[in-house]
Amino acid sequence: MSKPLTIAIDGPAASGKSTLAHALADRLGYLYLDTGVMYRAVTLAALRRGIDLADEAALDELAESVVIDVVAPTVEDGRDCTVYLDGEDVTWQIREAEVDAGVSIPSSYAGVRQALTEQQRRIGERGNVVMAGRDIGTVVLPDADLKIYLDASAEERARRRWLERRGGGRSDSYDEILAGVRRRDEIDSGRAVAPLLPAADAIVLDTTEMDAQAVLAHVMGLVD
Ligand code: DC
Repeated sequence: MSKPLTIAIDGPAASGKSTLAHALADRLGYLYLDTGVMYRAVTLAALRRGIDLADEAALDELAESVVIDVVAPTVEDGRDCTVYLDGEDVTWQIREAEVDAGVSIPSSYAGVRQALTEQQRRIGERGNVVMAGRDIGTVVLPDADLKIYLDASAEERARRRWLERRGGGRSDSYDEILAGVRRRDEIDSGRAVAPLLPAADAIVLDTTEMDAQAVLAHVMGLVD
């Protein structure tokens, strides 16, 4: 194929989407947008304001009113991008356990999705972008030039998350992480609006037995 200008990367939690998307964007000189950070930012905003995550109307309104910005890293501390919520750098706060545990709930609301999807499309329309998420190939950029759907067993994904967290000094047990991964899979795949699912024209890659380098090499082979 000729060089794809828009690349959609979808898949479940901890399937390696961010690692692949980031490396791919680096290689191609494209913008990397991890759309999960936007759902996380809305969730963080709700938790901080004491809004019950089960209150759909309040969450829909919140997603419309907060200003979320995702830009290239502003600090060299291992981050993939810098995330601003109403002007405040919340890059690390959106990775906290409370956000992890709650984020699938606001992500299931039509109003929240609509507000964030519009912002994502505006960025996608400019091209030269690698966008990662759950519904990029199916809903956000249905005309993306290349669509990849990454998968891996829940056990392998939990193992990767566990290693990542241990490296970051957090002590969540493997069993807790596996339970969290399974719970999020269930909510993300079972929701009525934009469920997690490969687009009909996506290339599905099972990465259970592949490391990050092998995945990148495989996808670069599809791009060149
Ligand atoms: O990729 P992540 O784990 O940071 O995503 C966090 C949550 O956001 C995930 O559980 C579901 C939601 N999400 C979504 O519904 N649609 C997207 N395009 C990206 C993320």
